[in-house]
Amino acid sequence: MEFLSFISRMRILVLILSAFGLVSCTDKSKPNIELIQDMMEQPAVKAQKEEKFFKNGISELVPPENTVPVGFKPYKFKADPEAAGLKNLNPLQGRLDEETLAVGKKFFETNCAVCHGYSGKGDGPISSKYPTKIPALVSDKVRNWKDGSIYHVITMGQGQMGPYASHVPQKYRWQVVNYIRKIQQETK
Ligand code: HEC
Repeated sequence: MEFLSFISRMRILVLILSAFGLVSCTDKSKPNIELIQDMMEQPAVKAQKEEKFFKNGISELVPPENTVPVGFKPYKFKADPEAAGLKNLNPLQGRLDEETLAVGKKFFETNCAVCHGYSGKGDGPISSKYPTKIPALVSDKVRNWKDGSIYHVITMGQGQMGPYASHVPQKYRWQVVNYIRKIQQETK
């Protein structure tokens, strides 16, 4: 054996290792042989698995009451659309640059155009089938609204229209407002 060169020894090692590999490939019903198990056996909670560590045994934790994710601002005007219009000021007021509008357009066309129409005239693809009349967003009424009021309708909905807070993330909502302003400008 001692005559075996280094190369030959490496060859034998590779053969043995590949045999392991082959064995583990043949029977798919059993887990593979884990040579290094560091990542398999770990104390981390597994998704969708019962976890006795928690009182109710549920591993998916919900955020503690009265907490918000980092970077999220609670919406202060939930029950007060009037205050929303007057006090919720648009940090992007009047910004109609390419970047702002591109973001606004993306969210508008994904979430709003189906009803309100691509140019905001209330004539979106499903508008004729909708049980009530879809209002235009290029109307004098919405033109005269404050930005905060449009933001409010996106966040909370209005009458027949449900809220779109979960569809249009907070940080992109003002861009949608600005995009509506842009299509208002384009519609004489
Ligand atoms: C499923 C259809 C539908 C979608 C999608 C939709 N809306 Fe509406 N929207 C309506 C209807 C219907 C009304 C009228 C609601 C009422 O007053 O009862 C309305 C009202 C509004 C108003 C108030 C207009 C007015 O004259 O009172 C604004 C502003 C508005 N929507 C913006 C949006 C924006 C922005 C989006 C996308 C984030 C959106 N809507 C998505 C159906 C829709």
